[in-house]
Amino acid sequence: MAVDIDALLKEKKDLFNDYLTTYLSSIGVDSGVYRAFAYSLCAGGKRIRPILTMLACEAMGGKDRDALPAGLAIEMIHTFSLIHDDLPALDNDTLRRGRPTCHAQFGEATAILAGDALIFQALSLLCSSFYSDEVKVDLCCTISDVCGFRGLVQGEYEDVMAEGAQLDLVQIEDIYRKKTSRLFELCMYAGGRIVSDDAARISSLRTYGTYLGLAYQAIDDILDVTTSDTTLGKTSGKDLLQDKATVVKAIGIDRARAWAVASTEKALKSIEGSDLKKQTELRDLAQWMLKRVM
Ligand code: IPE
Ligand code: IPE
Ligand code: MG
Ligand code: MG
Ligand code: MG
Repeated sequence: MAVDIDALLKEKKDLFNDYLTTYLSSIGVDSGVYRAFAYSLCAGGKRIRPILTMLACEAMGGKDRDALPAGLAIEMIHTFSLIHDDLPALDNDTLRRGRPTCHAQFGEATAILAGDALIFQALSLLCSSFYSDEVKVDLCCTISDVCGFRGLVQGEYEDVMAEGAQLDLVQIEDIYRKKTSRLFELCMYAGGRIVSDDAARISSLRTYGTYLGLAYQAIDDILDVTTSDTTLGKTSGKDLLQDKATVVKAIGIDRARAWAVASTEKALKSIEGSDLKKQTELRDLAQWMLKRVM
């Protein structure tokens, strides 16, 4: 049976945003860098990563609420990556989540430091959560790996260095994998790991995250060409302007759509036949993402 995906997204997003409000009121600092940090975290956004973390937790038999500390930590890391991605030295963007980017609003120095704070507050949140020490250590180690030279930071570096270059699909997939898909994989891993260390089911969840993340970046790159600033809440048409290495540039928009479909199918295949719960939700969420570009 199909699920009402809009209702599911709203329910989980509301749960997440309430948790975020409570978390922010617990910080007890009011400084310029805190205001920039809170501005970017509260600017909206689809909250896809914490929603995935909650669904992964439920897929393993846990409760969505139990995934909130991990989901918020991941959303904080994601928000750091957006603040730094928008800086003049990287993508040089002035619009994010329908508002001026962090550096456009607060200046570059404050934005860089707000991004730094998001990383460390994410780790601090995890370490002070109710998770067991074993889970805390595991999640902190995994986040560090996912965000360092084998993941996000290296992927962002390669993305910036590839401007103007002619990369093939294999090279582009490698950048997508690092800058975007490993964080999706982390959502699925973290959500599942909170509940159990069952290797087979966690591996299915991670593979779902890997391919969903690849599709997600391809969808983002297609939307950059097809959708307005107002709908996206960020400046569209930037990838072409900056001659970014995207799947659209490499193979054209129609084949890029087909590539996103194929990656989504691989994501769905990885959970098919497993005894994971929430399979319908995970399938419908992946299809909801694709529909944005079909
Ligand atoms: C933007 O991510 C960056 C990508 C990896 C494509 P999202 O499209 O999830 O951004 P928000 O969180 O909804 O603003
Ligand atoms: C960003 O990719 C991926 C990150 C890790 C931040 P993009 O540069 O395409 O993301 P947007 O379009 O600015 O959100
Ligand atoms: Mg970028
Ligand atoms: Mg960008
Ligand atoms: Mg983009």
